[in-house]
This record gives sequence, structure tokens and C-alpha cells, in this order.
Amino acid sequence: MADAVAQIDQIAQDAAAELAAVKDPAALEQFRIRYLGSNGIVKKLPEMLRTAPREQKAALGQKINSVKKRVEEEFEAKKADLAKAGQASGKDAIDVTEPGRRPQIGNKHILMKVADELTELFGRMGFSTATGPEVEDEFHNFIALNIPRQHPARDPLDNFYLTRSDQATRRPGDHATSTELLLRTQTSTVQIRVMEKQRPPIRVVIPGRVYRPDTVDATHLFMFHQLEALVVDRNVTMVDLKSTIMQFIHAYFGPKTQARFRPSFFPFTEPSAEVDVWFEDRNRWVELGGCGMVHPNVLRTCNIDPEEYSGWAFGFGIERIAMRKYGITDIRYFVENDVRFLRQF
Ligand code: DAH
Repeated sequence: MADAVAQIDQIAQDAAAELAAVKDPAALEQFRIRYLGSNGIVKKLPEMLRTAPREQKAALGQKINSVKKRVEEEFEAKKADLAKAGQASGKDAIDVTEPGRRPQIGNKHILMKVADELTELFGRMGFSTATGPEVEDEFHNFIALNIPRQHPARDPLDNFYLTRSDQATRRPGDHATSTELLLRTQTSTVQIRVMEKQRPPIRVVIPGRVYRPDTVDATHLFMFHQLEALVVDRNVTMVDLKSTIMQFIHAYFGPKTQARFRPSFFPFTEPSAEVDVWFEDRNRWVELGGCGMVHPNVLRTCNIDPEEYSGWAFGFGIERIAMRKYGITDIRYFVENDVRFLRQF
């Protein structure tokens, strides 16, 4: 018995010494196989019981169990130590056998895609495309569009006026001077810029960003996009306006799409109307934007004789168009940059 106990103690000592020398997971695995594996030294200790005298079996069994337990505990402790050290040093934290993650391929933003589809569609109807600056002066955003100085549309609360370095800060109640700059509130500004450069016949669409200090909700952003159209030629009538818009609506949303024109008012058109499209999924009319016959004052400001020429124009919200086309229910999705949304288009 004394022999057997001494032998077991020796094994426990050897195991402890060998474990102390283990420095990496590979050596630890060698240790595990040697001592704790199914043919390991510790696993085989119970064989000693076979040859032991009967009255000593119980005591020897206890000894074997306690040594087995101790080696297992020391092994687990070593394993935890190595894992911690590996994490701290950054070694072994990288699993070089892990398959790589494929980088995701980006795609064009849904709004840009819709804007392209629209300019392409109008392109087939003979419209060219124009753009203009987002930082505008009051002449193009208001004055030339027949919006007089005292008009409520020029209220500082409804516009993002910019402070210029050569200008004293605006005080509430101050009236705008014509040199004032602002973020354009409508793409109608570009109608003026086109007519300043080009003589009729004009047939142009203008996609672009506009800015208004609106509170953000499911249908409003303080920055959104419009598609503007302007046609100026001899004998242009409201019939051309209406038929072109209906042609667009049927071509883009489908031939059965319902739309309606409601009489409205805009300073730069006379007569004016608002265009609603029936949104199937919401079961209600949604306004796409405004339209009308270009006001003679606007033509005159751009040196186009309203006795000789007439024109029509519209300005529609591109977000609204995209929402109707693709069944998007909240305008905020466009700007939240959630790839789960963006990837769908
Ligand atoms: N600029 C107007 C707006 O932002 C929309 C609009 C109305 C544009 C009538 C037009 C038009 O070209 O003729 O509310």
C-alpha cells in the first residue's frame, strides 16, 4: 500500500511539474492526452485497485480520486490562464482558419436612382436636364419668381438664411435685402437660371435638393428633393401641361394610376394647380407638388415677351414619387442610412 501511495504521489508531482512547464495551447493539449486522455496516466490509475489487497482498496480508491481531481483542476486552471494571456497579447485571438467576410458592394441611393429614372423618362419626352446652385440669392429664390418683399414665404422662420461674413447678423423683424443668401427652398429658382441663359423654345427638367426648416416626421424632412419642369414656347397651353403630367404619371406609376388636379395658388404661376396621386397602400390622395402656367411677370423678368411666348412648369417631390413607386412608408428611411433599407433597391 505504501508503495502504491508513493507511486500515486509521484505521478501527481510529475503532473504538476509538467503542467508548470506548459507555455502554449499545443503543449497543454499534449499534457491532457498524456495524463487525462482515455489512455492517460491518471485515467489508468484505477487499474492499481485490481492488484491491491481487499482491505486497502477503499483507501487507495480515495487517494486515486483525490489525485485525479487535483490534476483535472490544475489542468483547467492552466487552460484559463493561457486563454487570458492569449487575449491580452492579441496572439491566438486571430483565428487564421476562419473564412473571410466578403466586403459588401454598395449601390446607388434609391433617391438618385429615382431621379435618374425621372430625367431619363422626361428625356424620352424631349426634355433636357439642368441644375442650379443650392445656395441661392433672393433674386432667384423670390424676386424673379414674383414673390414680393413682404410675402410671408420670405419669413426667416421658413427659410435657412445664411449669414455672410460681410454682413451684420440679422435681427428678428429685419427685412431681407436683395443681397441676402439662403439655401434654396424650391428648384423653381433654376427656372430663372435657365431662362437667363436660354431663349425659347425651352423644355427642361431640373432635379435637385431643397431646404426648409420643417420638423422631421414620417412625411417631412428639412432637406428633400424636387423635380422641376419648365416649358416655354409659342402657343403653350394648360392642355400641354396637363397631358404631359398625366403621361408621366401613367408611364412611371402604371397606366391605371389615378391623379387629380386641384386649383391652387403660386406667385410664379397663373393659373396654378396642385397634383395629387392616389396611393393604393394608404388608401388616400397624396400631393406630388404644384404646377401652373408661368406668370407673365416671371417671363418678363427674364426678358421673354409674354405676348409672344407662354410656358408651364411643375415642381414635384422626388421623395413622394419614390414612396409611391416603391411602397416606402416613412420619408426618414431615405436619410437614415440603414443598409437593410438601402440594399433593397
Ligand atoms: N416651387 C413650388 C414648391 O416648392 C412647387 C411648384 C409649384 C413648382 C408650381 C412649379 C410650379 O414649377 O409651376 O412648393
